[in-house]
Amino acid sequence: MSAATRGAAIEVLADPEAVARRAADTFASAAQEAAAARGAFTVALSGGDAPRPFFAMLARQQFAQKIPWRRVYLYWGDERCVPPDSEQSNYGMANELFIRHVPVPDENVQRMRGEDDHEEAARAYERLLSQPPALAAHSHADLPVLDYVLLGLGPDGHTASLFPHSPALAVEDRLVVVNEGEGTGKRLTVTYPVINAARRVVFLVTGAAKAGIVAEVLEGLRVPDAVPAQAVGPVHGSLTWLLDEAAASELTGRGAVASPG
Ligand code: 6PG
Repeated sequence: MSAATRGAAIEVLADPEAVARRAADTFASAAQEAAAARGAFTVALSGGDAPRPFFAMLARQQFAQKIPWRRVYLYWGDERCVPPDSEQSNYGMANELFIRHVPVPDENVQRMRGEDDHEEAARAYERLLSQPPALAAHSHADLPVLDYVLLGLGPDGHTASLFPHSPALAVEDRLVVVNEGEGTGKRLTVTYPVINAARRVVFLVTGAAKAGIVAEVLEGLRVPDAVPAQAVGPVHGSLTWLLDEAAASELTGRGAVASPG
């Protein structure tokens, strides 16, 4: 049984620019909805290259105006264990591309402190996620219910910093842990319970280099220990894959794939 049959919405767009535009549109409408309903829009961002055009799009006037930035709370799904000004920093990348260009209050930007002692940084971020607005009044089981979790997909099937056959995959009683993949160095990452408690999870994946792994995640044999992205399945929330044509090119069940608009 492939993930595609589990109610994941798969949207295929022409190219990375179109994917970025679609991501910015869904981000803006989700932000308006959450701000109206709960007074806050809580978001966990990913790192990697794929979200760069999306982040740059958020800084564009036409989107910046649609988003109630004073109600936006930025978190991260994972971070490299580096200082914020490092080229490797996921926070650093997002800050460069949009955060410093939009009126989101500094106190609403909650980065993972990759430069600190790894375990202490993980525990500190767990405490942060266990406070409002991440931990809303009606959270299930002391889990933060984030409004929007952005994820990427690595060539090995990892997402956030949940790497194949790594210790973090089996963690159910922590929100944030230190983890490591082959040659990645130490990483801080949220665990599956945090991702799967979210209201909306969005995979943003582009490029022909990802076509094989996208097909494996969505239509391949279900082996989440080897293909961690397969274990992403929001319990009460929605799951959307935003793909460009190149990344979707090996999907065989394309009949079920909707091209928005
Ligand atoms: C990170 C990410 C990671 C990323 C994938 C895909 O810190 O690297 O959060 O999970 O999303 O590795 O990265 P690319 O988009 O660069 O292929």
